[in-house]
Amino acid sequence: MVENVGGIEALLQEDRRFPPSDEFRNQANISDPNVYEEALRDPEGFWAKFAEELDWIKKWDTVLEWDPPHAKWFVGGKLNVSYNCIDRHLKSARRNKAAIIWEGEPGDRQVYTYRDLYREVCKFANGLKSLGVVKGDRVTIYLPMVPELPIAMLACARIGAAHSVIFGGFSAESIRDRIDDSQSKLLITADGGFRRGAIIPLKQNADDALVSPTPIENVVVVRRTESADDKMVAGRDIWWHDLVADQPMHCEPEPMDSEDMLYLLYTSGTTGKPKGIVHTTAGYLLGTYATAKWVFDLKEEDVYWCTADIGWVTGHSYIVYGPLANGATSVMYEGSPDYPDRDRFWAIVAKYGISIVYTAPTAIRTFMRWGEEYPQRHDLTSIRLLGSVGEPINPEAWMWYWKNIGLEKCPVVDTWWQTETGQILIAPLPGITTLRPGSATRPFPGIDAEVVDEAGNPVGPGGGGYLTIKKPWPGMLRTIYGDPDRYVEQYWSRYPDIYFTADGAKIDEDGNFWLLGRVDDVINVSAHRISTMEVESALVDNPKVAEAACIGRSDEIKGQAIVGFVTLKDNVTSSDEVIAELKRHVATKIGAMARPDDIYFTAELPKTRSGKIMRRLLRDVAEGRALGDTTTLADPAVVEALKQQYGDDE
Ligand code: WT7
Repeated sequence: MVENVGGIEALLQEDRRFPPSDEFRNQANISDPNVYEEALRDPEGFWAKFAEELDWIKKWDTVLEWDPPHAKWFVGGKLNVSYNCIDRHLKSARRNKAAIIWEGEPGDRQVYTYRDLYREVCKFANGLKSLGVVKGDRVTIYLPMVPELPIAMLACARIGAAHSVIFGGFSAESIRDRIDDSQSKLLITADGGFRRGAIIPLKQNADDALVSPTPIENVVVVRRTESADDKMVAGRDIWWHDLVADQPMHCEPEPMDSEDMLYLLYTSGTTGKPKGIVHTTAGYLLGTYATAKWVFDLKEEDVYWCTADIGWVTGHSYIVYGPLANGATSVMYEGSPDYPDRDRFWAIVAKYGISIVYTAPTAIRTFMRWGEEYPQRHDLTSIRLLGSVGEPINPEAWMWYWKNIGLEKCPVVDTWWQTETGQILIAPLPGITTLRPGSATRPFPGIDAEVVDEAGNPVGPGGGGYLTIKKPWPGMLRTIYGDPDRYVEQYWSRYPDIYFTADGAKIDEDGNFWLLGRVDDVINVSAHRISTMEVESALVDNPKVAEAACIGRSDEIKGQAIVGFVTLKDNVTSSDEVIAELKRHVATKIGAMARPDDIYFTAELPKTRSGKIMRRLLRDVAEGRALGDTTTLADPAVVEALKQQYGDDE
């Protein structure tokens, strides 16, 4: 059954309640509690009403075609996402409003009004066309957090090419795998990006990824750090500024079908191979638009800051598409929260008068450890709403955030969702919902979520089980790129025609959802999703390693930390040097965020009689707990030896 990953005992004793203030409710975008019932009675009508707020080239014929497990939303409709995020705001005074406020780590900054964004997106879209990119192509983007990143995404959307953004922390090999899988013909990168005062060598990683054969024909390079001026490959590479220099500043948006692919984004699953999650045009745009409007209560005058990297889905949905579809001002910051000092985030809030902050629990816990003095250095009174995403938020972190950043007057919305869901599915509506520290509270209107047991029966209030979603929603993934069978098998096979989230959850007496963490072999390190299989494959790829098993051990700051148990080949002796080498090896194979925190050597791995590695026992050992059930273990002596070596119970 579902394990006690998030410390459910502590959660269930958490009984603080924060109803919306009258002041907040009276100005909220949505404050009528009947909306839940109405939406559940007629979800299609609910979403269709929202869809009227978007701009359509041709209106849809059918809201939903549900041929389980395949959904088509707004069938027959035609629209363009970049038009909806930019052009339609140019008809009003919004044309001069800041769409993107960007700050670089060194302190440089740029502001793009909606009109500026229009011009830059159109020029780059024309640049893409001049390189032969056409509707239906895939374009890989490997950029730091610079304005060119959302500009490139919107330019792809404008001409109907699907983008595949790869987080800047990924290694050359990870880039290569993703390019091969998507068969992109263009790569957009930068010479480098700034992080803690150092330069991340993105162009170098990109070059290493492009050894032949590769489908990539051209590489567009943003000059950010001036660190690769001598590395441009003749005939293949072209500077961004050269490409756009003479392009016309208008580009007709391509009319797209509702179900045309908007982008793919790779995420880790339970196997060693990342999945290309496919999102389409109308449903995704609508899902991010509606949730941004209601969950963040976005208003014309807000200055909204999501601190995520656009390389992850959070940045796609809630830095770029959701906020811009709402005509909001979205802030982007390039660098680290502790550069040059630990008050950088709060300096940014004060500088731009930010009113909404959306960040991850792991960041909040880091700020807690650094201490209150850093937020106290700055005027944070402009903030009126706080958001959390990426992993369960413990009540202590929730309260710290509420008190020290929200100054005891701002709602904190904990938002549960996934790369696959595209949009927020469980979160408070801050003008309606009574908040509970540690709970994502209720499914968004129109979302039918249920916690079920192994057999698929609802567990009822208080019981733990698997979180499932019973009806399709607009922003849901449509398939896994190039692997339709895996889509069906992964998400829709555990329970027939019901979406399996792979998260554990409980529902309390009031109908609030408490998320407990993953129930599969995916771990969540600082709100980054990592597959234990991927780390294991990277470890066994090292010639010194015979066998490896990885687990996530709970970590006070990061949520989970990666622990590798490794059996070395006969002729290799264990040492600190080998540990360092193996950690380095994983970072080179996947990326620095997958570097194991600890590596333990063992003569053998604990396995069941049928040969399955018992990760649960390894987790017990790594967390220093008394061992759980060992009756299915093939050789109990293996675990005894591990416990002697590393366990510290009793
Ligand atoms: C997994 C999805 C959604 C954007 C960022 C992560 C965990 C996410 C919460 C939350 C508890 C959460 C789940 C989920 N998760 N948000 N508010 N409370 N857990 O996207 O990389 O696809 O990871 O993150 O375990 O399955 P992702």
